[in-house]
Amino acid sequence: MSEKVKPYKDSQLNKKQQVAQMFDNISKEYDGLNRVISFGIDVKWRKKVVDIVAKSKAKRILDIATGTGDLAINLAQTEAQEIIGLDISDGMLEVGRKKIAEKKLSDKITMTLGDSENIPFEDNSFDAITVAFGVRNFENLEKGLAEILRVLKPQGTFVILETSVPTKTPFKQGYKVYSKYILPTIGKVFSKDRSAYSYLSESASVFPYGETLNNILRQIGFSNVEDLPQTFGVATIYKATKL
Ligand SMILES: C[S@@+](CC[C@H](N)C(=O)[O-])C[C@H]1O[C@@H](n2cnc3c(N)ncnc32)[C@H](O)[C@@H]1O
Repeated sequence: MSEKVKPYKDSQLNKKQQVAQMFDNISKEYDGLNRVISFGIDVKWRKKVVDIVAKSKAKRILDIATGTGDLAINLAQTEAQEIIGLDISDGMLEVGRKKIAEKKLSDKITMTLGDSENIPFEDNSFDAITVAFGVRNFENLEKGLAEILRVLKPQGTFVILETSVPTKTPFKQGYKVYSKYILPTIGKVFSKDRSAYSYLSESASVFPYGETLNNILRQIGFSNVEDLPQTFGVATIYKATKL
């Protein structure tokens, strides 16, 4: 089980409520700040996720923790007929709905308020499920992953994109300086919510990655689990299927 890092140290709310509140707070600035803090590389990583899903020829896709919908929008380039974005932050979904309407994709993509740990869909409903930078925010990682396995169709494809920690010198040291000092400072200067970016970097530093996350996926019941580190290991794409 991942360590429980929460956004607000003095809040009585549980992690899920705090996470929803935090993303509501930063929803309007999220897209802009995201590009800055990742130097725009997140766009390239999401494209790789789309390529994996496209190969699976999925027709119905669930994008969990969809946020402002960037991955859901990119997934519209595949042969999917229906894409559903699920998130617990209505603020993030609202920004996403506007982008989807502007791109005239509202007939293909639906943004739904809902929790990954209690997914409001039947068993075996989706050909592919994606989560980009979402799993580390789950209150209960194992419960969220078990729910994903439940709603994924047999032979379906599951893809996670998540931050990870570089293990090789000098990237390891560079990443430490960036996540401990630079990222929280950018957050404090540019964000409406001063603690949000400290939470995002702290949660990234303790979240399981690589073989540890592969093993959690296997324990939950996923098959053909594989991790594909990106950009010196600062992010990793995980692929898995349901037998
Ligand atoms: C860092 S954002 C990622 C958004 C988007 N996937 C992207 O790639 O930009 C994380 C999102 O996870 C959502 N989230 C966190 N816990 C969740 C849960 N239990 N169920 C659904 N969404 C959740 C948050 O509300 C937030 O919008």
